[in-house]
Amino acid sequence: MLTKDQVLKIREDFKYLNLNDKELIYFDNAATSQKPNRVIESLDEYYSYENGNPHRGAHYLAMKSTEVYENSRDKIASFINASSNEIVFLRNATEALNLIAYSWALNNLTENDEILISIMEHHSNLVTWQYVSKKTGAKIKYLYLDDNKQITEEEFNSKISKNTKLFSITAASNVVGTMPNVKEMIKKAKKINPEIVTVVDAAQFAPHHKVDVADIDCDFLVFSGHKMLSAMGIGVLYGKEELLNSIDPFLYGGDMIEYVYEEKSTYLNSPQRFEAGTQNVGGAKSLAVAIEYIEEIGIDNIYEYEAALTTYAYEKMEKLSYIDIYTTKDTHRSPVLAFNFKDAHPHDVASILDNYGIAIRSGHHCAQPLHRNLGINFSCRASFAFYNTFEEIDYFIEHLEDVRRLMGIES
Ligand code: ALA
Repeated sequence: MLTKDQVLKIREDFKYLNLNDKELIYFDNAATSQKPNRVIESLDEYYSYENGNPHRGAHYLAMKSTEVYENSRDKIASFINASSNEIVFLRNATEALNLIAYSWALNNLTENDEILISIMEHHSNLVTWQYVSKKTGAKIKYLYLDDNKQITEEEFNSKISKNTKLFSITAASNVVGTMPNVKEMIKKAKKINPEIVTVVDAAQFAPHHKVDVADIDCDFLVFSGHKMLSAMGIGVLYGKEELLNSIDPFLYGGDMIEYVYEEKSTYLNSPQRFEAGTQNVGGAKSLAVAIEYIEEIGIDNIYEYEAALTTYAYEKMEKLSYIDIYTTKDTHRSPVLAFNFKDAHPHDVASILDNYGIAIRSGHHCAQPLHRNLGINFSCRASFAFYNTFEEIDYFIEHLEDVRRLMGIES
């Protein structure tokens, strides 16, 4: 596990964590991570010395930016054990899920088909399929959670069927922290319907855990860069190459075509097929640099340390009788702690903690059906990263008592 000294050294790489004028505790990492200096500098380097329009032009900068862009793709491909043609750069996981919806689902699903998702999906992996369902008539089925916020085998077996044509599941919940065994589920789903298309939403998983798409054997997998140290505006769609080359483009325009005639056009294969218009080369570079940084620390070290932080916080909060925790008890979980004060609104809690320099998120976290299913409308969420410390958790726990005091809640 990462030692205290290693974490303190890592913290030196993040400017925000080193501002001396006030206490700053950033526990909103599931919303977006802070960025190490190296990532910020990579943007400066790209825009200062390497900025051209990739895949267009024979001059130095056009070629340099192409090299930067494609090297970044190679880096990301090897990080998740894919081939480079299977990595499509998009803005974020949401856009990637929409691409699957528009390019594959709307053209392949009918009213005889079922879409299987879970109740803990982020709206990106839920509202998108509601739209597809409205347009195609395909029926959405939900996997519900047991008391420990897990999807049981019985639940999965009772919902998957030969009619399930799309199975789309998060690999890590942004609220309850559940990390379902997506590999096993996909294996079983493919046995029941070999034609099924499987999608993994790894937006909350990839920053914390090793991703191996060949091992998971999913058809598509999506994640966002900004939750894993890169700049905003860059995300990844992984898709099996044959599948990507068999579906329609999502956006039409420059650089995704092969030949254009007055009446019709032919399209390039993946990834260019899905990358119309000028691309976010700086963002792609920043993600490659972020991944290099993660690899230097070691994704397994990150997972282990963040899991220890989460368990430490969970065990302390469990002792507070005025708090309800919604995160799964299972210690194989993503580093999020969702909770509520029994007698205070989450927005009040978050605002008061902010006065002490502690940043947590409050609201529905883009997971309204999950909240409703838990019998609540909103929650507070503290989410951790490998640059957080056990001392920060102590400080956070101490100040939960201040929330009660300031709100005049009786002990
Ligand atoms: N999806 C992000 C979150 O969970 C924004 O906070």
